[in-house]
Amino acid sequence: MNLLPSGICFYLSVAMCWLTSEVDASWWYMGTLGSQVMCDNIPGLVTKQRQLCRQHPRVMQVIGAGMEDWVEECRHQFRAHRWNCATVARDHRLFGRVLLRSSREAAFVHAVSSAGVVYALARACSSGRLDSCSCDPSKKGPSADGHGAFSWGGCSDHLEHAVRFSQAFVDAKERAERDARALINLHNNRAGRKAVKRYMTLECKCHGVSGSCSLRTCWQALADFRLTGDHLRRRYNGAVQVAVDQYGGGFTAAHAHFKRPGKNDLVYFEDSPDYCVRNHESGSLGTGGRACNRTSRGSGGCEVMCCGRGYDTSRVSRTAKCECKFHWCCAVRCQDCPLQVDLHTCKGQT
Ligand SMILES: *[C@@H]1O[C@H](CO)[C@@H](O)[C@H](O)[C@H]1NC(C)=O
Repeated sequence: MNLLPSGICFYLSVAMCWLTSEVDASWWYMGTLGSQVMCDNIPGLVTKQRQLCRQHPRVMQVIGAGMEDWVEECRHQFRAHRWNCATVARDHRLFGRVLLRSSREAAFVHAVSSAGVVYALARACSSGRLDSCSCDPSKKGPSADGHGAFSWGGCSDHLEHAVRFSQAFVDAKERAERDARALINLHNNRAGRKAVKRYMTLECKCHGVSGSCSLRTCWQALADFRLTGDHLRRRYNGAVQVAVDQYGGGFTAAHAHFKRPGKNDLVYFEDSPDYCVRNHESGSLGTGGRACNRTSRGSGGCEVMCCGRGYDTSRVSRTAKCECKFHWCCAVRCQDCPLQVDLHTCKGQT
């Protein structure tokens, strides 16, 4: 059974763990044969992806390392949510299951992972870690923005290249399927890539007489990935449920009063499973044992998080920084003080 519905979902495999953790030093000695062995052993890749993997083993390595960042971003965005994106490390098969349904959560995972690939690649290009790309070559010579003229300098993150590769690699999986689900995934992959582009900013350095800024050198830089994560989380909240026409040719909003989904919207067509209870079929881990906030009424509050099952409270010791003193010059030194805190965790199903 294929549990790896998205192109980059090979992160779910042991091969990928091996790829990210051990390859660094030995990579260069692997040669063609090594990359072939590696690419053939990553489960869930379609033919086109295996070809790209063999042709660009270094790029695969970058994508693998960047995976940690977007998985971490996903966890951050959903830390106070019944579905907390945390199933990757614990049981990858479960995470795979979540993706088998075209739910809102799967939409987010597709978007954030596709965004993450773009981000990791663009950064790797501009930092000189890849032979196949470098700074954006089109950012040369004079230019201008709202503040006046400037000249391109430094190293602009090469977004176009990263988007192209991500498109070729990540989308290859969906292009091989050609059904309604694939159509939805393609849309969300693209929305993720657009979200990275949105937070591309112009950074400048001033030159000129006593910092007058009469001369500026600027470059395009990707903003912190958190901004992309926040953006996609908002899109998740406003995700549009769609109905797919039976020939897989397109989709429209499922309800007449919904707006037509735009290119930046996340779309889904199946309802989310009940994340309250553990269910192997749907990939839900349930919320038993999850930490919750006793005073909050929101999604991270015990009421919502524990789905009405109640919670246990335990007193645990933590240490916190205290009695901080300023030392001339220039350090602040603190002591570690013991602290008792109440930890609330949701009761499991009975
Ligand atoms: C719990 O929720 C309250 C109200 O929303 C908030 O003020 C508080 O900071 C939260 N506590 C923790 C530990 O997150």
